[in-house]
Amino acid sequence: SKKAVLGPLVGAVDQGTSSTRFLVFNSRTAELLSQYQVEIKQEFPREGWVEQDPKEILHSVYEGIEKTCEKLGQLNIGISNIKAIGVSNQRETTVVWDKITGEPLYNAVVWLDLRTQSTVESLSKRIPGNNNFVKSKTGLPLSTYFSAVKLRWLLDNVRKVQKAVEEKRALFGTIDSWLIWSLTGGVNGGVHCTDVTNASRTMLFNIHSLEWDKQLCEFFGIPMEILPHVRSSSEIYGLMKAGALEGVPISGCLGDQSAALVGQMCFQIGQAKNTYGTGCFLLCNTGHKCVFSDHGLLTTVAYKLGRDKPVYYALEGSVAIAGAVIRWLRDNLGIIKTSEEIEKLAKEVGTSYGCYFVPAFSGLYAPYWEPSARGIICGLTQFTNKCHIAFAALEAVCFQTREILDAMNRDCGIPLSHLQVDGGMTSNKILMQLQADILYIPVVKPLMPETTALGAAMAAGAAEGVDVWSLEPEDLSAVTMERFEPQINAEESEIRYSTWKKAVMKSMGWVT
Ligand code: G3P
Repeated sequence: SKKAVLGPLVGAVDQGTSSTRFLVFNSRTAELLSQYQVEIKQEFPREGWVEQDPKEILHSVYEGIEKTCEKLGQLNIGISNIKAIGVSNQRETTVVWDKITGEPLYNAVVWLDLRTQSTVESLSKRIPGNNNFVKSKTGLPLSTYFSAVKLRWLLDNVRKVQKAVEEKRALFGTIDSWLIWSLTGGVNGGVHCTDVTNASRTMLFNIHSLEWDKQLCEFFGIPMEILPHVRSSSEIYGLMKAGALEGVPISGCLGDQSAALVGQMCFQIGQAKNTYGTGCFLLCNTGHKCVFSDHGLLTTVAYKLGRDKPVYYALEGSVAIAGAVIRWLRDNLGIIKTSEEIEKLAKEVGTSYGCYFVPAFSGLYAPYWEPSARGIICGLTQFTNKCHIAFAALEAVCFQTREILDAMNRDCGIPLSHLQVDGGMTSNKILMQLQADILYIPVVKPLMPETTALGAAMAAGAAEGVDVWSLEPEDLSAVTMERFEPQINAEESEIRYSTWKKAVMKSMGWVT
């Protein structure tokens, strides 16, 4: 029975853009025992701006922990069995807080936020040396997506931030740093750190030396003393200072996309996964080597699972809007009441009937990196109804994935034979079938969809000093897979894809 194999338990925080989850796994079997999810508000104070409240995010973590522990109690499982906690998080989102009061000095500027478009333009005009200055050190294009420009904006525009920097009270962090600092005690000795994967998304981190880069900090005008200490993804950072899990070590930290790569056990070169969350992110493990893309992909740190363990890199195709388009249909158009309803609408028609929806709400990310793009819905007739638009929204997620998969195949030389997927949207069977049809390769998903949390839990459990989880557990219930085979012919798939590309071209150049 399951009880017979109950080993030490490991908890994981999965702090995504749309929601926070806390989950508890059995480290013997990777079985998910208990979980709780809290939706997170997003504020759009101006066109293109996206903010969140760092305190709401922190409270959602505490709420998730309390509720998950209560559920464990109902299952008669003692929470004292929880030996470690891992943190995985939405990446790039930028917080600056006051280390004396513990108060955030502004809302979190979310990765999707476009306010730094002009900052990016003016910075790109004064890149020292050659155009490769930022990319060769960080693996990233100079874009609104990454933290350095968001932090630059806060330093330029928020008086409280400027003052706190002058008075040496300011700390900067991505969501992992903000959470770990707060959870390990905040103003009473909180640990100010980040891990290599999150650091690699700031545009201030040298992915070769694995250190903050002095030249980059000068270029972006960032005072280095506000940056967190960079640690590996699996080591004890500190202990929980409050709540039901007080005293438990926090010993895993990974950006959510890296965590999903670990959770999908993509430890070999060439193994890849695609996670459908707010955005959609395809990462391919390239081993100890930084591979630079010629096709609009990013080079990023995949993981470093221990202080003395080697670093692994990944090529990444990033799509800004995936699940977010469903939320938009729910919150902005009101054509569905819950996200799950999208599947019912799409099923009613089974086709977009020539309607294409390019959800370039935050410009276009990979492979275009086009900040001037904005969303469009085209190919409409009087026949088009909300079901067709729902279907087109799902197709858009799949077409965007096709674009990054094509880029990945070109960069890697060896095409992927199947696509490993995970994330909230993968419970949508229509989406999964469409994805197989549009990629024209099988799509494979684990039955236990919480791969991101699993990866963070694995990293936490395997940390030196915790050591309750080997990284290759033998009895992994998580790896039972469901498979979707392409069902349309290749020609039909190509025709749809080329029409999509026409629509993408029309989405560009809206903002100058
Ligand atoms: O880079 C942004 C990414 O980490 C956000 O992930 O799961 O909120 O779409 P998610």
